[in-house]
Amino acid sequence: MALGVLPAMSVIALLSLVMLQPSTHASQVPAFFVFGDSTVDTGNNNYLPNSLTRADNPPYGRDFDPPGPTGRFCNGKLTDDYIAEFLGLPYPIDFYNPQAQGQKLLQGVNFASAGSGLLDQTGNATGSISFSKQLQNFIDVLRNISQSIGQGNATKLIAGSIFLISSGGNDLLDYQLNVSQRAQFNAKQFNSLLVSKALNYTQTLYNLGARKMVIVSSAPLGCLPVALTVFHSPDGSCIRRINSQTKDFNAGLQSNISTLASQLPGVHLVYGNVYDTILAAIQNPTRSGFKYGHKACCGDGKYGGASGCNPTVYVCANASQYVFWDLIHPTQHMYIILANGLISGPQSIASPVNISNLVNM
Ligand SMILES: *[C@@H]1O[C@H](CO)[C@@H](O)[C@H](O)[C@H]1NC(C)=O
Ligand SMILES: *[C@@H]1O[C@H](CO)[C@@H](O)[C@H](O)[C@H]1NC(C)=O
Ligand SMILES: *[C@@H]1O[C@H](CO)[C@@H](O)[C@H](O)[C@H]1NC(C)=O
Ligand SMILES: *[C@@H]1O[C@H](CO)[C@@H](O)[C@H](O)[C@H]1NC(C)=O
Ligand SMILES: *[C@@H]1O[C@H](CO)[C@@H](O)[C@H](O)[C@H]1NC(C)=O
Ligand SMILES: *[C@@H]1O[C@H](CO)[C@@H](O)[C@H](O)[C@H]1NC(C)=O
Ligand SMILES: *[C@@H]1O[C@H](CO)[C@@H](O)[C@H](O)[C@H]1NC(C)=O
Ligand SMILES: *[C@@H]1O[C@H](CO)[C@@H](O)[C@H](O)[C@H]1NC(C)=O
Repeated sequence: MALGVLPAMSVIALLSLVMLQPSTHASQVPAFFVFGDSTVDTGNNNYLPNSLTRADNPPYGRDFDPPGPTGRFCNGKLTDDYIAEFLGLPYPIDFYNPQAQGQKLLQGVNFASAGSGLLDQTGNATGSISFSKQLQNFIDVLRNISQSIGQGNATKLIAGSIFLISSGGNDLLDYQLNVSQRAQFNAKQFNSLLVSKALNYTQTLYNLGARKMVIVSSAPLGCLPVALTVFHSPDGSCIRRINSQTKDFNAGLQSNISTLASQLPGVHLVYGNVYDTILAAIQNPTRSGFKYGHKACCGDGKYGGASGCNPTVYVCANASQYVFWDLIHPTQHMYIILANGLISGPQSIASPVNISNLVNM
């Protein structure tokens, strides 16, 4: 029956078109892997029944396409979404998405979990996935990738891929908010502990074959609406003690990463300075295209930092005018600026090279 044959042929033709697509629309690197906290989590926690740290309610995601909560702690997209777009890759599939299997792993996976940190204890009580567990999950993915394309091909894929790591902010916030932890370590000791963890994880990824890694600094945590609220900023000025520790952590991270890079053959480690970019936007919102630097679009209280973001609290009309979306997290507008800096910024933002350079190394 001619009528039956024709549609069947079209389906085959269509399938071969779809299968050709990856090579006709070439990505710049084979895959993109993401590790860390809510600054890069695109929805993992929503798959975890025990997670209490979820962006699964409106108005989260109200500027996403299509609008609606996605698990991102933002009104729209995150830095890693823009980096994936730049690389010509799909948004990496969330590791805890049940569909993260087989071929779906080959263009990258997002392991990040909102609320987690460099220390195993950070976020554990609220069900977040620690960095060390994220690495174990990567090892599982790596094994399956090797099974599907062979070990030689997998080694090449991993070595050519971009790795993005954004973690440490929650450890620092926990430390600042937890008196008994401050009694246990002084700020310098705590920072050294965090830096040594970050180095351990970077080297572990290297040992597993990663060669192109972007390690992102912490934001100016003393300026978060939650910090202004908890520590009673009188006029919106940032909490100096917190920014000072965060700067010290970032400086230690940057110098130790650069030392590590010189010790590991064939590695390219990029330090991404988001601290200065966010601080500049907070201190001079107009110059960066914002109207409000130190209060959240979504949240109650003077700085929008006295509540979480949910359907019952104040929410602004235009999130693009704000650096902060909720009590802790930047808006999509801020994330676009951060992504642009990492992708094509000068050495003061991405050092020693930016991601545009990194893909060609
Ligand atoms: C890896 O493969 C095993 C066996 O096929 C499967 O049980 C597991 O779910 C897979 N894991 C991932 C992350 O794909
Ligand atoms: C929390 O810590 C416990 C004990 O170390 C561990 O068994 C569990 O897997 C951790 N939970 C998460 C979500 O990482
Ligand atoms: C790599 O993949 C190709 C097919 O794409 C296959 O022919 C080859 O055997 C694989 N190499 C290894 C080392 O598995
Ligand atoms: C505060 O820090 C202590 C010591 O590290 C820890 O045992 C405790 O669980 C922390 N409390 C909270 C609320 O995180
Ligand atoms: C990081 O580098 C600084 C010097 O720049 C050094 O004092 C510190 O011990 C290093 N920390 C770690 C954990 O290696
Ligand atoms: C990272 O730390 C763990 C636990 O302390 C240790 O077993 C491992 O050897 C370290 N890995 C690297 C690459 O330093
Ligand atoms: C929202 O604010 C941004 C930044 O100030 C501005 O460019 C944009 O036109 C505004 N959108 C609307 C719908 O008013
Ligand atoms: C970063 O990337 C852009 C390409 O977008 C390039 O023109 C620029 O020179 C790079 N900057 C540095 C400092 O490497």
